[in-house]
Amino acid sequence: MAKVDVAVAMLAIGETMSDVAIPRSLVDPFGRTVDYIRVSVTDRCDFRCVYCMAEHMTFLPKAQLLSLEELEQVCRNFMALGTRKIRLTGGEPLVRRNIMHLIRNLGKEVKVGNLDELTITTNGSQLSKLSDELVDAGVKRVNISIDTLDHDKFREITRWGDLDNVLNGLAAAKRAGLAVKLNAVALKGVNEADLGEMVAWAGDQGFDMTIIEVMPMGDIGNENRVDQYLPLSQVRADLSKRFTLTDSTHQSPGPARYVTVEETGRRLGFITPLTHNFCESCNRVRVTCTGQLYMCLGQDDSADLATALRSGGENGLTEAIIEAIGRKPKGHDFIISRRAPSAAVARHMNVTGG
Ligand code: 5AD
Ligand code: SF4
Repeated sequence: MAKVDVAVAMLAIGETMSDVAIPRSLVDPFGRTVDYIRVSVTDRCDFRCVYCMAEHMTFLPKAQLLSLEELEQVCRNFMALGTRKIRLTGGEPLVRRNIMHLIRNLGKEVKVGNLDELTITTNGSQLSKLSDELVDAGVKRVNISIDTLDHDKFREITRWGDLDNVLNGLAAAKRAGLAVKLNAVALKGVNEADLGEMVAWAGDQGFDMTIIEVMPMGDIGNENRVDQYLPLSQVRADLSKRFTLTDSTHQSPGPARYVTVEETGRRLGFITPLTHNFCESCNRVRVTCTGQLYMCLGQDDSADLATALRSGGENGLTEAIIEAIGRKPKGHDFIISRRAPSAAVARHMNVTGG
């Protein structure tokens, strides 16, 4: 099966889908099955996190965005090619107008078993309002980005965010029965000293947590990546002074390495794109809100699914996806160094999604 798919995933130039059967799964040239897509539904956000955006961002004109119907069509084409898991990201996905419409339609596919999971990465600002609706729609898990439990620092990091609102959102998510994972980006000298408190709090609340190393994505104005960069080896060493961290055998289909925090019984993940290469197990690709498919978070190569969708004929979109998976690179080349302190990848995280 896999062998056939490899062949199909690399359509020869000039060859079209009418010459070959549509494969039931996508396998890239390195033998990795791609069955997970992350879809950024908007580049807009109600926060301005210092590592993600400049304070004054120019967002895409609305006309350039895929409509919700087009986003759904892209998801459905991927599902026909074996995608089992979809994560909606942004920007802040829950600030896109009528986003619940898309979420409900995709959620139905989870309910009938056509998708294993529909998850959302959110900053939590809309969860007081939307948690119940999300559960009703078929969402079972959310990742919530929160970097500190200190009000002033939260404001400093997010610029526009309100910690109490996010904490209310977290409480609402928990009440609604959503499984919650916290995502915290480690920032040198900013939330470095707060991460222990967060691990303890996440344990009390019954939330898993992942700590993310800051990635060099997009121009962030006056902020400097080198100043923000805190290696997670150091974070782990610090946390080990307070907690017993046992290597966990848990492998999520993602780039995190996990430990169990013995004191709380919860899982703690470390995502270290810069110090640890996780590319060999990569099972995902990313779609932006303008319909560009990025085969790797750390590379600029992309495929224009919007054009394929709008003018590619009956199988245009499927062909474009298959052709692009045939170009999925082996890995990324992120580096933050004194010599190259700016962005290794020009686009912002809010364009590709986390
Ligand atoms: N480096 C690391 N993480 C980032 N995020 C956004 N920008 C960056 C960056 N430059 C995180 C957010 C969120 C997830 C979607 O990505 O905090 O948790
Ligand atoms: Fe918004 Fe998330 Fe970027 Fe913060 S990290 S500005 S919450 S998209």
